[in-house]
Amino acid sequence: MTTTHRTTRAVLFHELGGPDVLKVEDVALRGPGPGEVLLRVEAIGLNRAEALFRAGAYYYPPTLPGSRLGYEAAGVVEAVGEDVRAYAPGDLVMTAANFDFGVHGVYAERAVLPQEFVVPRPAGADAVASAAAWLTYSTAYGGLVETAGLAAGDHVLITAGSSGVGTAAIQTALRLGAVPLVTTRGEAKRQRLLDLGAAHVICTESEDLVKEVRRLTDGKGADIAFDGIGGPGFAALGDALATGGTAVLYGFLDPRPATLSMNWPLTVRTYANGALAATEAFRDRASAFIGSGLGNGTLAPVVAETFDGLERMADAHRLMESGTHTGKIVVTVGSPR
Ligand SMILES: NC(=O)c1ccc[n+]([C@@H]2O[C@H](COP(=O)([O-])OP(=O)(O)OC[C@H]3O[C@@H](n4cnc5c(N)ncnc54)[C@H](OP(=O)(O)O)[C@@H]3O)[C@@H](O)[C@H]2O)c1
Repeated sequence: MTTTHRTTRAVLFHELGGPDVLKVEDVALRGPGPGEVLLRVEAIGLNRAEALFRAGAYYYPPTLPGSRLGYEAAGVVEAVGEDVRAYAPGDLVMTAANFDFGVHGVYAERAVLPQEFVVPRPAGADAVASAAAWLTYSTAYGGLVETAGLAAGDHVLITAGSSGVGTAAIQTALRLGAVPLVTTRGEAKRQRLLDLGAAHVICTESEDLVKEVRRLTDGKGADIAFDGIGGPGFAALGDALATGGTAVLYGFLDPRPATLSMNWPLTVRTYANGALAATEAFRDRASAFIGSGLGNGTLAPVVAETFDGLERMADAHRLMESGTHTGKIVVTVGSPR
């Protein structure tokens, strides 16, 4: 399967900018080479990283014109390279994002990926749930469980709780028997976050985060902070920690430099899911955590909205940039031509 050349429809952008720069075009598609699989995409999970990349604000730049986009998809293996034994045509898989999406971007009907960039879909999970599962849950699992050592009874402060990763972190904390204290900026999502299992919601635009966390923990402070925002607000998270607590910084929704609390001693860890996802051992552990959680119902992807067709990608990005969503935005892809 190394010589078949054809085309696929894919979302490209030729200049940096807002959602309008996203275009659906026909692009060349080669067959899978050694170690590669050809994925027929059924659903695409959106990540904030893709909006940042499209705007030129991610940690690496796109190559323009003609950049691809997209970390996360669920679909069906359509063909494999001649030496690939782990997967066969017809296998249901999802991407385990650890690649330059300017090259391998999965906003497409079909994409060729190295086999280490896919994992089997959790048993029984449909394409939409699978497209919403890997990056959120593996980041929550890797950041909270493997990096911070989250344990039953811990108070864990989860910022941007309505984000894709935030909703997964709430479920992960509950699954471990920890107590999720969750932030959102305004009042609009307070009830939704309580419904999703937050033990308490702190609206950062109107409430004093440090005072609230101290009040909710009998003055002790949270054991762990799990933060996707960064910026100057990062210092307050350290201030809200118990002595010797751990703050894990995994995102930069606020692009300004993160500032450090003087509430010492505290441990600050940064978290990059791609570094862990590069190892088969982590992919196996995260897959087991996600699969068992979806199987027993302790994890259930929160899907904010589903858009039908690659042509709706710009609308899906507009929703993401509106910040009004809770959970994951998914774009489904119809039957390929
Ligand atoms: N390190 C890693 O391996 C890793 C993995 C996955 C994601 N990430 C990062 O994690 C972050 C979250 O990604 P995501 O896809 O889960 O996000 P998302 O679903 O797009 O959620 C964003 C939400 O965060 C809240 N927020 C708080 N401050 C914000 C700000 N300054 N600008 C925009 N939104 C803000 C908003 O909710 P409220 O209105 O409720 O406050 C907003 O709806 C991103 O920085 C992403 O790059 C990192």
